[in-house]
Amino acid sequence: MVTPVPATVFRAQLVDTVPGPRGPALRIEADGALAVRADGTIGFRGAWADLPAEYGAAPVVDHRDGFVLPGFVDTHVHFPQVFSTGAYGGGRLLTWLERCIFPAEARLADPAFADIAADAFCARRAAAGTTTALVFGSAFPGAQKALYTQSLAWGLRTISGRGVQTLGPAAAAPLLTDIDTALGLCRDEIGEWHGAGDGLVRSAVVPRFALSLAPAEMRRLADFYDEVRGDGVYFHSHLSENDSGPDGEVAAVRRAYGTTNYLDAYAGFLGRRSVFAHAVHCDDGELSALAAAGSSIAHCPVSQLFLGSGTMPWRRTIDAGVTVALGTDVGAGDEWLLPRVANTAYKVHLSDRDSVALDAATLLDLCTLAGARALDLDDRIGNLEAGKEADFVVVDPHRSPGLRASLEHCGSGSEAAVFTLLMTMREDAVASTYVRGRQVLSPAL
Ligand code: GUN
Ligand code: ZN
Repeated sequence: MVTPVPATVFRAQLVDTVPGPRGPALRIEADGALAVRADGTIGFRGAWADLPAEYGAAPVVDHRDGFVLPGFVDTHVHFPQVFSTGAYGGGRLLTWLERCIFPAEARLADPAFADIAADAFCARRAAAGTTTALVFGSAFPGAQKALYTQSLAWGLRTISGRGVQTLGPAAAAPLLTDIDTALGLCRDEIGEWHGAGDGLVRSAVVPRFALSLAPAEMRRLADFYDEVRGDGVYFHSHLSENDSGPDGEVAAVRRAYGTTNYLDAYAGFLGRRSVFAHAVHCDDGELSALAAAGSSIAHCPVSQLFLGSGTMPWRRTIDAGVTVALGTDVGAGDEWLLPRVANTAYKVHLSDRDSVALDAATLLDLCTLAGARALDLDDRIGNLEAGKEADFVVVDPHRSPGLRASLEHCGSGSEAAVFTLLMTMREDAVASTYVRGRQVLSPAL
């Protein structure tokens, strides 16, 4: 006698990754079943023919023509830049920040606008299948409240913290506070939001970048991080992104901090839950320090092309042992969909000095499990393993005629088909997005 388990079964082609001896390995279940229990966890992942009897009476959602993939994990995206993609700022990072981004971010001081931005931000994530994101926050506490409130109402997983900035050009003035005010605001935000939504929301300490604080202020922020890191609070910032000559970011950090090593500006912040965006111009010493600390890099190749930053050296970075995940870096990045970022990663690394052709397993892993690992959540999310929380994306090629045609002619259930899927899909192919087994939907619906 089998006792039925309350669940819903998704029938589809299941594709995910698992760690292998030489990097990520692909798992494909051509006619698969994903049993999602009522408590939001995965009860079974495997062949439809092997579905355990306890799920035999469960309702079935039939996506046999489509794919179920793990939810996408974006390890670097800017909430206050939700409307800022494609902004012309004269090409390079520091001019783009001054001309386009600081003024755009200042608009979130208005609570009504912040609400609109937070709703749009969640909508873009839902449409792109981004179930989890490490979100670079707004300077304004009211805007951060809007972000968390909306994120929970939509049902998304969000790690964030207000962007800390005490220094900057005149255009940044509305975003600046003194360091004591900044520390107080960080403490309040963490106290109110870290762990909210039964852990769907988590907090981070987020200095904008090294140039946003004086060295002594950065040290005070590091002391503060030391107080909260034991509670599982994250650290997030930009690292060695844009090296555009003597007036560029990397040279300016060296001058301000009196060091040749950009990472030294972040002394005291390294650890398992520390994620650094970009790391394009790191030397071997910086990479091995990141690896030794278990810190991760959010690789953002779309943004790096947009700002002429160069690209993170794939082979050298991976060989150093650092966890590399993907970030959209919206708004310097103009793609919300992680597979579009993976598509760009494939192209830039093929054109790299080492000319690496990333395979389907690596591309999917970058969009999913590597992100979960960077966020220290790989015991809960990142693939479709039974026991994990059911964060997944349904991809339906019928919503996208070009994609359907490409897939029809490359053989279902193959590694080649997964490569084609990841390189070709656009947001229109995302049929639905689930976090903890619940569909991510606008609270207005
Ligand atoms: N460095 C400091 N601020 C930013 C930002 O908003 N975007 C990017 N890409 N780099 C930064
Ligand atoms: Zn960024």
